[in-house]
Amino acid sequence: ALPKIAIQGVFVADLAFRAARLPMMGETLLSNGFKLGPGGKGSNQSVAAARAGADVAFITKIGADPFGEMARGLYAAEGIDSGHVLTDAQRPTGAAFIFIDSRTGENAIIIEAGAAAALTEAEMEAAAPAIAGARIFVAQLELPLPVVRRGLEIARRHGVTTILNPAPAMALPDDLYPLVDYLTPNETEAESLVDFAVDSGQQAERAAQVLLAKGVGAVVVTLGAKGALLKNRSECIHIPAFSAGEVVETAGAGDAFNGGFALALAEGRPVAEAVRFGCAVAGISVTRPGTAPSMPRRDEVEALLRNA
Ligand code: RIB
Ligand code: NA
Repeated sequence: ALPKIAIQGVFVADLAFRAARLPMMGETLLSNGFKLGPGGKGSNQSVAAARAGADVAFITKIGADPFGEMARGLYAAEGIDSGHVLTDAQRPTGAAFIFIDSRTGENAIIIEAGAAAALTEAEMEAAAPAIAGARIFVAQLELPLPVVRRGLEIARRHGVTTILNPAPAMALPDDLYPLVDYLTPNETEAESLVDFAVDSGQQAERAAQVLLAKGVGAVVVTLGAKGALLKNRSECIHIPAFSAGEVVETAGAGDAFNGGFALALAEGRPVAEAVRFGCAVAGISVTRPGTAPSMPRRDEVEALLRNA
């Protein structure tokens, strides 16, 4: 049987616009490319983990509208268990405006979580059986913090290993950290969690040290094209990134990493190997447009790992 993973988070429709620059206030600018597709960190991570070989249950709330239908279609197509994907008849499905600089591939995002922002702690409790039956539980910070906390608490209660991807960047209360086995910030997110700049490998290690002291089990700082830094109480390892071709879109790369990392941990791989697997998933995703649609299948990940 495939290893089970439970993921809580947000689905949004990603509306990705490419342009040579951001418009100025009051200005209208012509786009040089538009794509509508499924997004949202938790949903993207679910797709990444499912394509890599996990049996994924996704927990969220969407609206009764066309973007909500896009979500349901995605989970049916990807074999993701949507038994805890709730529908809110009153609120819209979330959406994200993604601006992609067509010269550099860099992005800027505004996300509205929509119905997912109304997911409650009681609804998380109702999803407890899905969490209890999983090897790994994954959360991010697009849902309200009390709901994130409740998800992590349920996982703890049932002895399920937890991953918190602290994205988007924000500061966190100290009492959240002990609920986290693996904390996976990128450099910007790490900087929001500590009180100093994280712009070098040395600073990333220092940030990881601070976060370990706050009570997380291990820290993986993702470093984009530089790979990832893994630090726990016994080791500190730098894992290089994989290059799988020309980079076209980096939005969703963190989700690719987290989905792949979760799957590899759920398979019982040693943590450094799981980080390497996550880096390979991310390395392929950035060579393709879109977030969820760019997640690789397992055979593609294995081919990259073999040939590296
Ligand atoms: O991590 C990428 C995701 O963040 C995008 O899919 C966008 O929806 C935002 O939530
Ligand atoms: Na991509």
